[in-house]
Amino acid sequence: MGIEDFILPSAPPGQPPTGGEALTVEQELADIEQQVKQCTGCGLHSTRTQGVFARGCPDAALMIIGEAPGADEDRQGRPFVGRAGRLLDSMLLAIGLDEKDVYITNIVKSRPPGNRDPLQEEIRACRPYLDRQIELINPDIIVTLGLPASNTLLDNSMSMGDMRGRWFSYKDIPVLPLYHPAYLLRAPGQKAVVWEDLKLLLEAL
Ligand code: URA
Repeated sequence: MGIEDFILPSAPPGQPPTGGEALTVEQELADIEQQVKQCTGCGLHSTRTQGVFARGCPDAALMIIGEAPGADEDRQGRPFVGRAGRLLDSMLLAIGLDEKDVYITNIVKSRPPGNRDPLQEEIRACRPYLDRQIELINPDIIVTLGLPASNTLLDNSMSMGDMRGRWFSYKDIPVLPLYHPAYLLRAPGQKAVVWEDLKLLLEAL
């Protein structure tokens, strides 16, 4: 008998290391959240306060994917809790949805300094977390907010003007790109356009 007899084989995803009950979706999400909080996969870990994982309900039919945490999110550790988040909440409320009906995350889990757009290398480093979240949540519909999130998930370089109001698909899940609420704060005239897109979303739900 040697030390190697005490080393357990690594577990396949969704299973604990010793065989037994498979991890629940909530347990696996909690594990990934811990990994995000400790992640040093890109340079953002040295300037962030904390990694920002998700909020909402893992059973939700609707998953919302934004860009990256801002200052409020970096401080509080939850996505979309600042001004843009409050506008997002009121957009959802306008179609009868609240936090228990949605699961909200970002393509990048750490705040880029000065709220600059995330770099491709930062998006790439965070991508496995996002992909696993999508698998675990298994939503009926995904909404992407703004250009970086929409271009990343849909792997295209289209403009928001060309994407909004149209359905796309990611691994057979319907995707509706919406203008980002931070943009709507700067361009409130576009709220009428977003209302049209929210009606599309409501019909599909
Ligand atoms: N903007 C985002 O894209 N995500 C947040 O969490 C907050 C603001």
